[in-house]
Amino acid sequence: MKFPKKLKTKIDFRTQNNSLRRLKKSSNLVDFSSNDYLGFAKSEEIFNKTHQFLLAKNTQQNGATGSRLLSGNHFLYEHVESFLSTFHQTESAIIFNSGYDANIGFFSSVPQRGDVILYDEFSHASIRDGIRLSNAKSFKFSHNNLEDLEKHILSVRAQSKTKETEIYVVTEAVFSMDGDSPDFIKMTKICEKHDVFLIVDEAHSIGVFGKNGCGLVEELALQKAVFARIVTFGKALGCHGAAILGSKNLQEYLVNFARSFIYTTALSPHSLATIYSAYQKMLQQAKYSQKLNENIAFFKAEVQKLELKNRFINSNSAIHCCVISGNEKVKKISRKFQEKGFDVKAILSPTVPENKERLRFCLHSYNSKEEIRNVLHLLSKFN
Ligand SMILES: Cc1ncc(COP(=O)(O)O)c(C=O)c1O
Repeated sequence: MKFPKKLKTKIDFRTQNNSLRRLKKSSNLVDFSSNDYLGFAKSEEIFNKTHQFLLAKNTQQNGATGSRLLSGNHFLYEHVESFLSTFHQTESAIIFNSGYDANIGFFSSVPQRGDVILYDEFSHASIRDGIRLSNAKSFKFSHNNLEDLEKHILSVRAQSKTKETEIYVVTEAVFSMDGDSPDFIKMTKICEKHDVFLIVDEAHSIGVFGKNGCGLVEELALQKAVFARIVTFGKALGCHGAAILGSKNLQEYLVNFARSFIYTTALSPHSLATIYSAYQKMLQQAKYSQKLNENIAFFKAEVQKLELKNRFINSNSAIHCCVISGNEKVKKISRKFQEKGFDVKAILSPTVPENKERLRFCLHSYNSKEEIRNVLHLLSKFN
């Protein structure tokens, strides 16, 4: 089959660069790589409760049958969105098919021509792709650097010709490739002082932080200071989908203008029922979040004990990264981990900046202390 030469050149470049991505078969290695922080993706209880819930609601339907504005808005949407609004203490919640879709939909439609988006330099690809589709101007600020953020806000205000320029600031509650978080107390103060809209992606903080796993913004009681929160269900909740939390006005706007919401088939009743069952489990059984947080504390204590602390990016989340420069080197160490039975993934450039390649350890409620001790012991030897 013919294949365009330019594409072949790009693939060859990745091969030479040691950064070619390949799909791998799933393994039975000790899991230090998945986003299934609470073990919900494999929960038999959630699986069974979802089935029972659908039967109790007399819902024997496989697909949504269309987009939500046409035939796909089955009754479970209202049920789950109303539950999410209460659980997350927000006026409204609107479900998207994935976190990627939610970020694309929000950033491509909300900031208008003449507005400005300020985004953390390490923002997730879904946020950046949404920004690319927006008519607003955008500038990045240094990672978690609030002084730099404020400088950008002041500079935009000084340069804007009209008073109508809105500024949108976007950050993440937990950065997916670093595991760290911004100082939200200070950040919300800055945003309030300058009257800018703050958006927080909570993909990796739901289930990890806050009462009943409600996330970092709510843990800090800052929900009123945030214009929109993006929560995703494919990580700690172990299923699929996402929601944007915000005002009723925002919900109405997104239903009308977010193209990734409008032009796609809605999620199936089964997907919605799984999201609902996963939230019920999180709400009723705090032991999973507690166990995860114990493991995070244990991991950090072991890192300290083995004198590895200065190799790690400081984090209180379930994501812990050990910086090892060079794609080749970090891939080699990751392979050694696999040989010893541990799934620890190498994060390569260009996903992260060159020389900041890293091993990413994702922690879970179901990792044993022994597994954590052993994986870190190996790291201290491989280095
Ligand atoms: C910070 C962040 N936002 C959004 C997403 C996208 O979420 P989803 O996997 O539901 O598309 C991810 C997933 O990798 C993420 O890490």
